[in-house]
Amino acid sequence: MRILAIETSCDETAISILEAKDGSFNVLSHVVHSQIDMHREYGGVFPTVAKREHGKNLVPVLTEALEKAGLYQEKKQEVPKEIEEILSKNPDLQSSFYTKAVNIDKPNIDRIAVTNGPGLEPALWAGISFAKALSLMWNIEVYPVNHMEGHIASVLLSGNIEFPALALLVSGGHTELVLANSWGDYKIIGKTLDDAAGEAFDKVARLLDLPYPGGPEISKLAKVHREKVAESNDFKLPRPMIGSDDLNFSFSGIKTAVRYALQDIEITNEVREKMAREFEDAVTEVFIKKVQMALDEYPVKTFILAGGVSANTYLKRNLKDSIQDIEFITPESNLSTDNATMIALAAYISPNKSKEIVAKGNLRVDEN
Ligand code: KG4
Ligand code: ZN
Repeated sequence: MRILAIETSCDETAISILEAKDGSFNVLSHVVHSQIDMHREYGGVFPTVAKREHGKNLVPVLTEALEKAGLYQEKKQEVPKEIEEILSKNPDLQSSFYTKAVNIDKPNIDRIAVTNGPGLEPALWAGISFAKALSLMWNIEVYPVNHMEGHIASVLLSGNIEFPALALLVSGGHTELVLANSWGDYKIIGKTLDDAAGEAFDKVARLLDLPYPGGPEISKLAKVHREKVAESNDFKLPRPMIGSDDLNFSFSGIKTAVRYALQDIEITNEVREKMAREFEDAVTEVFIKKVQMALDEYPVKTFILAGGVSANTYLKRNLKDSIQDIEFITPESNLSTDNATMIALAAYISPNKSKEIVAKGNLRVDEN
């Protein structure tokens, strides 16, 4: 089974081609085109800018993915009339489709998968329209994939998931604890009541005059400080909801505390390093505590840490050390942040839920 997957839920235009055979996987190509430079100017992602960029990038990214997989061939072909209507709301995509994509011969793939939510709706629609157009041109079926389920499936290249499993999904838009009884059977047992963890990293980075996305920047500075100074420092941030008896999170208070702490001081490199470390410590402590509570309440066989923030080595290492007796799996580093390989994996492993493919910005992981 060969799957071509498309991911455009936020600011990465990603296409992967995955071959799955008897439960083992071979990634034939994995292309991620980041729009970060574009969004950096604004300090975040604007949906209409993201949509336009996906429109421009999808065809070149597809070409690269097919070439890398050795599946690129050109051929002049008849293009079904309906495609014009499908692409009509995305002029950039429409123009590159008609100049370039129409000459790409049907590759040897069995299925097209596309993220249908959650995410920025205009951005999601770019990927969905493209998937539908390719599906019509090549006569290959399209499967919708939930982006958060994609993050869960991203660990499949690192190990096996034994169910029941507990997943901590931490990204720029989400922070949730998900109990998975099997593929497609999920229950959200805890979530953030305000900002997502990645969003908090990004906002704190902004307060420290660091570029977007903030996660990698904060993590670099925190590491520098830990290497210089053994013990913690004089900044003290709250650990929101660490004592609450539920499994929910709150991160907006930490960000506000950072803002106050920085109010009357000059932001030097030393301040950045200290604050980055204290912030990373605070977030890590909260996650360790809540994960422990969740594991006490729900005995599972596997713990999964996934989503963009799972790229954070400090969080990864400390969470791993805090968990005994059960398998700990997290994605390989190139599968932590958004990519299409995880979408292909989810499309392969999880039962297909719906035939109707529409963008759903707020799609939940437990929605059928
Ligand atoms: O999963 P993802 O790529 O996109 C969403 O689905 O939201 O996650 C992106 C988030 C951003 O907020 C980014 O700052 C954060 O992941 N991130 C990190 C690190 N690398 C990326 N956060 C903390 N430490 C990192 N090393
Ligand atoms: Zn994501």
